[in-house]
Amino acid sequence: MGTPLLKTQSLSISFGGVHAVDKVDMEVEKGQVFAIIGPNGAGKTTFFNLVSGYYFPTGGTVTFKGEDITRLKAYERTRRGIGRTFQNIMLFRELSVLDNAMVGLHSRLKSNLIGAFLRTRATREEEERGREEVRELLHFVGLDGHEDNLAKNLPYGMQKRLEIARALATRPELLLLDEPAAGLPTQELSSLVEIIQKIRDRGITVILIEHKMDVVMSISDRIMVLNFGEKIAEGTPEEVRHNQAVIEAYLGKEE
Ligand SMILES: Nc1ncnc2c1ncn2[C@@H]1O[C@H](COP(=O)(O)OP(=O)(O)O)[C@@H](O)[C@H]1O
Ligand SMILES: [Mg+2]
Repeated sequence: MGTPLLKTQSLSISFGGVHAVDKVDMEVEKGQVFAIIGPNGAGKTTFFNLVSGYYFPTGGTVTFKGEDITRLKAYERTRRGIGRTFQNIMLFRELSVLDNAMVGLHSRLKSNLIGAFLRTRATREEEERGREEVRELLHFVGLDGHEDNLAKNLPYGMQKRLEIARALATRPELLLLDEPAAGLPTQELSSLVEIIQKIRDRGITVILIEHKMDVVMSISDRIMVLNFGEKIAEGTPEEVRHNQAVIEAYLGKEE
């Protein structure tokens, strides 16, 4: 098996009395599409916030490529190769599509403010290569031709793709997608699934939070199920589908 790409041990956070994530142990192997499912409020997004460094845990550890990153800040984790999208779209609405994607790139560019000010040749070349890379990523998610549009003028589904392109521009080894299919019309689901598969084919490991079960079942190698912050099951799609605890967690809800 080798070292897992991501590993959490007893990872926990509470808000007041609420155990939003409660002693979660999990491992993700490189190259997998790993899904996290569970009822609303189960702690899925909070788990992403712990892995990406937006929250610090009240207990437990996060290990990435064998290194303990539990205390690293979010931007340091981005540089180490953890990219993410957000459940609620977080774009710069008044910036162009291209500039939004460039934001992802800048979070890992070597050049600093002084370099940018002096506009050294190296900086310019790095910018130019970056711009090319970002254009390629926009093409990859199906946004070619929209580079100069303002983000706010894109239809919802394209805004979600732009978030994915921006996250890819940080050159992640691990990409966290928080409900990428939420709110998408049915006819856009298959192209989303295709994009996720192509991301995996690029060698990027994907962890996906998703409610749409057909999406989850069709692309995941493994699935972890959270309920009230606890991991109640993990396995292949087939194993999880027939797991009694999972069936009960879902039957208890209106979904
Ligand atoms: N910053 C926060 N402050 C207080 N409570 C929070 C915070 N973030 C998440 N929670 C709580 O943690 C629980 C899990 O939320 P969340 O991770 O968003 O669930 P999910 O993504 O599975 O729907 C909820 O009870 C939520 O209210
Ligand atoms: Mg959520």
